[in-house]
Amino acid sequence: MATVRIPGEGRTLTDAEAVRSFLAAAGIDYERWEPRADVPEEAPADDILRAYAPEIDRLKARGGYVTADVIDVTALTPNLDAMLAKFSREHWHDEDEVRFILRGSGLFHIRPRQGPVHAIEVGPGDLFRVPRGIWHWFDLCSDRNVRAIRLFQDASGWTPHYTESGVDARFEPVCFGPAYLPPGPA
Ligand SMILES: [Fe+2]
Repeated sequence: MATVRIPGEGRTLTDAEAVRSFLAAAGIDYERWEPRADVPEEAPADDILRAYAPEIDRLKARGGYVTADVIDVTALTPNLDAMLAKFSREHWHDEDEVRFILRGSGLFHIRPRQGPVHAIEVGPGDLFRVPRGIWHWFDLCSDRNVRAIRLFQDASGWTPHYTESGVDARFEPVCFGPAYLPPGPA
């Protein structure tokens, strides 16, 4: 289950319904997919895409996506820092950014045109869509490990447009993990 933090307001949302309604209000589609027990998370990409074909086809029909692939990143990935540097600067796309997390975790920061920056920590089973045009950036959590299905409306794939705002540098890319609970009353 994803968590949402709003650093400027000192708020963290962990309750499923609170996360869902916050993201819906921000225009971000979010749902949970049941991870497939019959296909290991480390299965070859073609097997993954075949196993999740019903869900992928449903999304394609709904959002006009034409291709899907599997991105697989670990701390051992060659040129990882250069790759991450492309994701972690604020940018937008001319198409939706759709991801289903198979393994690992990551942190999306979203900067709405109006309203506070919020961070969405995502993990296995999380499916979300950042609509085209929305300013955002992405960091891996400290274990640098993520495997995800991506869907594209443009067959040429992931093209970022950088805002060069520098806002991303003001936010610490810190993950809390699935067990995180915000401090409550003593
Ligand atoms: Fe992006």
